[in-house]
Amino acid sequence: MLESIKSLSRGEPFVLSPPLPHNPRIAPKAPTRRKPAPAPAYLTDARLGRIIRLLMDHATMVVSGTKLAAELKITRSEVWRLIQQLRSLGVEVEGHPATGYQLRTMPDLLLPEVLAPLLRGTVFGANVYHYYKIGSTNNVAMEAASAGAPEGSVFLAEEQTAGRGRGGNAWHSARSTGIYCSVILRPPLPPSEVLVLSLAVALAVRDAIRELNPALEPDLKWPNDLLLDGKKFCGILTEMNAEPTRVRHIVVGIGINVNQASLPDELRPIATSLLVASGSEWSRVDLAAALLKSLHREYRELIEGTQARESILRRFTSASSYVRGKRVRIEENGDAAFEGTTEGLDPRGFLQVRTAEGLRIVLSGTVRATEPQSGGHKLTTND
Ligand code: BTN
Repeated sequence: MLESIKSLSRGEPFVLSPPLPHNPRIAPKAPTRRKPAPAPAYLTDARLGRIIRLLMDHATMVVSGTKLAAELKITRSEVWRLIQQLRSLGVEVEGHPATGYQLRTMPDLLLPEVLAPLLRGTVFGANVYHYYKIGSTNNVAMEAASAGAPEGSVFLAEEQTAGRGRGGNAWHSARSTGIYCSVILRPPLPPSEVLVLSLAVALAVRDAIRELNPALEPDLKWPNDLLLDGKKFCGILTEMNAEPTRVRHIVVGIGINVNQASLPDELRPIATSLLVASGSEWSRVDLAAALLKSLHREYRELIEGTQARESILRRFTSASSYVRGKRVRIEENGDAAFEGTTEGLDPRGFLQVRTAEGLRIVLSGTVRATEPQSGGHKLTTND
């Protein structure tokens, strides 16, 4: 995203997202806004969510196959097939066609039928899409946004096979342990304000985590990583399609390591999960709902409030150990790395770093903390 802000100053086109391959199921140009057609072949069968919803609504009872079949307007043998499918996805359903069905435990799947009722009254409640497995929720959201999907559309996956992070990094997205979520926003803001919006997203994630576990104090690493115990557990990838003065759409992709009991060897020194940091399992449904509600509040405040930008910069600064007085090494995309001490955010949200040569404004790239070492600086492992 920030690379594109630099591009603008170089007079390059201000289109943030790389052109995505055309999906023939989605019309390339939408004359009017309409419901998106997000890769229907991979969308989770909505009947699975409806069965879970019905079983959840009658959690203390055995629900007959006949009742489920009547509610879903399908046959009892189709109900049986869907129940088998749910079981293969790890949902614990007791019973069989002769007696009926009952949930043994509440499934922690991010299904629209489970999540959307918790999001009523927010911009995110109306269009929730779920995938068991997808390449990247950001890709599908960018495609849907280009095809005219409404603001507030939410794309969630249990697993991503090509999860993307900033700077071309991959995002490890193991099945049903993390939150992999992308939302479409169409803010009436100039592209120059989008950095502040992405800082607000980090604050929204932080607030959601603190709402569910007030003992945790996630640290914010500019521009929008969240850390616990110095290790990253959440990253945010903001992609934008904009004209020089107007944002067409933004996709905010949020990846949170939630219930990973351990992480792959190569990530272990630098990454953590909420389970590892807190010692207990989290409800991904509760966290996703808290996150989207908190994001709704931040977003509304940013586009409707009068002092929102100042408030976001102030709150980000106070929640981050990185914004002021931190020795850092900055690796800007394509430019030589440099070191210095952070000196706060400028009014647009860019990071200011005092170097031996003077004050530098960081527009993009990776910030790493350095620790004083005898004879030099050592990189810490929190990126
Ligand atoms: C980063 O820290 O580099 C950003 C990571 C963003 C990962 C999320 S997971 C949901 C969405 N889909 C993606 O492919 N990426 C984002």
